[in-house]
Amino acid sequence: MLNEKSAAPLYRQIYEAVRQAILTGEFQPKMPLPATRLLAKQLGVSRMTIINAYDQLFAEGYLEGRTGAGTYIASELPEELLEMSKATRRRTAEKRVAARSLNISSQGSWLAKIGANVLRLDRAMKFTPFQHGLPALDEFPFDVWSRIAQKLYKNMPREVLGYGEPEGYRPLREAIAAHLKLARGVKCDYAQVIITSGAQHALTLAGKIFLEPGDEVWMEDPCYLGARGALLSAEIKPIAVPVDADGFDLSEALGKSKNAKLVYVTPSHQYPLGLTMSLARRLALIDWARANDAWIIEDDYNSEYRYAGRPLASLQGLDRDGRVIYVGTFSKTIFPSLRLGCLVVPKDLIEVFTIARSLNDLHSPLIEQAILAEFIAEGHFARHLRRMRKLYEERQKILLREAKKQLEGLLEVREADAGMHLIGWLPDEIRAERVAKKAAQNNLKISPIAAYSFNPHPPNGLILGYASYNERQIKEGVSLLKKVLLEEYD
Ligand SMILES: Cc1ncc(COP(=O)(O)O)c(C=O)c1O
Repeated sequence: MLNEKSAAPLYRQIYEAVRQAILTGEFQPKMPLPATRLLAKQLGVSRMTIINAYDQLFAEGYLEGRTGAGTYIASELPEELLEMSKATRRRTAEKRVAARSLNISSQGSWLAKIGANVLRLDRAMKFTPFQHGLPALDEFPFDVWSRIAQKLYKNMPREVLGYGEPEGYRPLREAIAAHLKLARGVKCDYAQVIITSGAQHALTLAGKIFLEPGDEVWMEDPCYLGARGALLSAEIKPIAVPVDADGFDLSEALGKSKNAKLVYVTPSHQYPLGLTMSLARRLALIDWARANDAWIIEDDYNSEYRYAGRPLASLQGLDRDGRVIYVGTFSKTIFPSLRLGCLVVPKDLIEVFTIARSLNDLHSPLIEQAILAEFIAEGHFARHLRRMRKLYEERQKILLREAKKQLEGLLEVREADAGMHLIGWLPDEIRAERVAKKAAQNNLKISPIAAYSFNPHPPNGLILGYASYNERQIKEGVSLLKKVLLEEYD
């Protein structure tokens, strides 16, 4: 029974053996156990070893009686412990856990309920076409990034190692303010820039600060799932507003609800349809927000990639009344796992956003913020954007060319002025959701617009990301898609 080579001490092995015998019913309640001296002799161990084992069993309630009067198996062991094997006990415990009603907050229960609205990314993200939302990761200048990182690590400023300001690393905020002013016409002072863990964090903070349970929120239909989940987490009532060629339409929205407290829009490049919101509609929305004491969240997620048409400056830049909360992200311009983004908030909201941000996780990692600040300040960011704009424009052309060559009559892939994906349109009788499922079985990652729609009869299209795939991958992807589509049309 005893194993000298075991890592477990001898007393522990004896304790475990007796305990097991009790639990499996081999040793019955009230059964006497051998005296310590006798058992020590039988097992060839010291008496102290037996005393230690018995002491432990006494302490846990398995034994009763005392030295002199004899030692017995306890007469009243908890019933559930008796006659149950380890496996049975585990199964019983699992059932108990599964059956219990969770004693969590109403906010917690709400979060559990809205799970379907939350982004769940494929963790085993294989780079198979046509996953959208991913930049060309292998084109990122990691040599430059790592040179900046190395320089920093060699001579790390003390302020980058201690706790930082919740609003973010000041040189990064200054660099972002300068970039947004120039590139997006955002009107702001660096103090209005708050660094967040990506757009996701920015949207969740905004939901927390502006919204009460039950508030009505206008959302574009179809709508970015990350935004939908973030705002729903504030227990709001979403009001889906279909977008048309000019983007979000205020009159359509007012027809659905007159009491919205906030609206979420992607005016520079509607997600996922890729439309640009017209100037007239932008101005109307800002007027509405001012007149109704309401808020506009402008998600400017990949406005940097525009290839044709007149770029419209940000909605924030048109706003004179501090009604627009601007959300930016580096997920599409650097890489998503960096988890850095920003908010630009009106001056009188800096304090509350800073407090909310600080209560989350104090601040985003300072070392990454410092590397990014330097990357922008030294001009690498602007250079990288220029290169990627050109590359993505080329990749879009390749996708269009291949679609024309191989998918004519099967899928209508339309050119877009901006962005990192195209939409492929299907005739009514071929459902995009089905094609997407079949495509997945063929190692293609394609989302149907339906995945982002509130409408039970969503636009019948497929989202084809092209930014992160080279010519060969795009060609192969299109051939595979052709095979899938031909089967569907059959
Ligand atoms: C509309 C929209 N907003 C924001 C983001 C970026 O989110 P994050 O900064 O949290 O990565 C994405 C990414 O796909 C997006 O599609």
